[in-house]
Amino acid sequence: MKLWGGRFSKAQDELTDDFNSSIRFDARMYRQDIEGSIAHAAMLGKQGIITAEDSELIQKTLREILSDVEAGKVEFLIDAEDIHMNIEKILIERIGDVGKRLHTGRSRNDQVALDIRMYLKEETLTIKNMLKDLELTILDIAERNTSVIMPGYTHLQRAQPISLAHHMMAYFQMFKRDIERLNDCYKRMNIMPLGSGALAGTTYPLDRQFVCESLGFAAVTENSLDGVSDRDFAIELASALSILMMHTSRFSEELILWSSHEFAFVEMDDAFSTGSSIMPQKKNPDVAELVRGKTGRVYGSLITLLTMMKGLPLAYNKDMQEDKEAIFDAVDTVKMCLPVFTKMIATMKIKQENMLNACKYGFVNATDAADYLVKKGMPFRSAHEVIGKMVAFCISQNKTLEDLTMDQFREFSELISDDIYEAISLNTCVNERTVYGGPSREAVKKAIKNARDFLDF
Ligand code: ARG
Repeated sequence: MKLWGGRFSKAQDELTDDFNSSIRFDARMYRQDIEGSIAHAAMLGKQGIITAEDSELIQKTLREILSDVEAGKVEFLIDAEDIHMNIEKILIERIGDVGKRLHTGRSRNDQVALDIRMYLKEETLTIKNMLKDLELTILDIAERNTSVIMPGYTHLQRAQPISLAHHMMAYFQMFKRDIERLNDCYKRMNIMPLGSGALAGTTYPLDRQFVCESLGFAAVTENSLDGVSDRDFAIELASALSILMMHTSRFSEELILWSSHEFAFVEMDDAFSTGSSIMPQKKNPDVAELVRGKTGRVYGSLITLLTMMKGLPLAYNKDMQEDKEAIFDAVDTVKMCLPVFTKMIATMKIKQENMLNACKYGFVNATDAADYLVKKGMPFRSAHEVIGKMVAFCISQNKTLEDLTMDQFREFSELISDDIYEAISLNTCVNERTVYGGPSREAVKKAIKNARDFLDF
């Protein structure tokens, strides 16, 4: 018989049983469910809603159930529906009528709202720490490569020279914002809903603040209808994770390009690459491709959650049981991607010669050549045109700007003298860009220092 079976005269259809049940995917919240119940039972005892002895026995038995679950000694049943009723059923099997007092002043609606918040709080912190590891790895790469010059791109066309460190630090900023977003959604997850009851609170004199503090929440929810039917926090997390995956996917895309023979800027370590079953020469960047590919799953979870919630009248509706598979899959996917991605970039080989060579043949110093003329007094638009013509000439002659002789330079402008060579050297182009946030060695070192301070948590 179901724990809620009193008003029913017939057993549930087998298919309904299976269809309704969430134990296959909510069993992972067993610890949060038990900890929540222990706090609730302690509060019921403290308030005199149940006796102190009953409260003690319930708490003690719940602790035993927890260790039995962890030791693999407990089997959850589909027809007990979900993790909440499975645990309660085991409790009642063990201590009979006393166990039946646990659910006083509580509903599965506020119980599940509590459990999922507790579960996602922990996962958010785990992901935050994984992001910290990724950030530390990015900083190490940046620190080792402040003098490695590479082309910066727009439209995937060589644009202006930067350092590899500067390029890496761009990703640092993205993941920094991801950490901040996780901190932010943690704040809204960290609100305790127990006491909302099914939807309309309860007549029992619950001490919500006590439960809130014993479970380590920052505050209690302010409205019982909202307390049981808010899933914003899961949607926010799915959104933060989608943005995070978008960042890892962009990064992956670049690494995939950079691993090609066409770029040959990096080589993934053998341990993070895969061969081909037919082409003996192949070494494929599968890890980066999978990270890029899995991004879609996380976006999918976000859309699932938004769509699931958009038409729900207040308060709880069973549709909301669908929140779990979506948000769990998003969390699992991110937790799978981040550590392997971090190790992959930590071990990749950087081919700095090729990065430098790519700068030599791409007119990446053309802006600096124009700026040179501006500094000699020419208006920028005119300088842009002069250098544009110079580039066209170089292309026709298969030369770089710095290959031109002084006579050739002076055919384009009388303002040019010997100091042009220094002014358009790659080193000058990168390291004179000392503007705050720019690619010069000095500016990047400052960025790395700021980054280390940020990671001090
Ligand atoms: N398994 C349910 C869920 O995940 C728990 C809440 C059930 N509440 C109810 N009134 N049927 O949403």
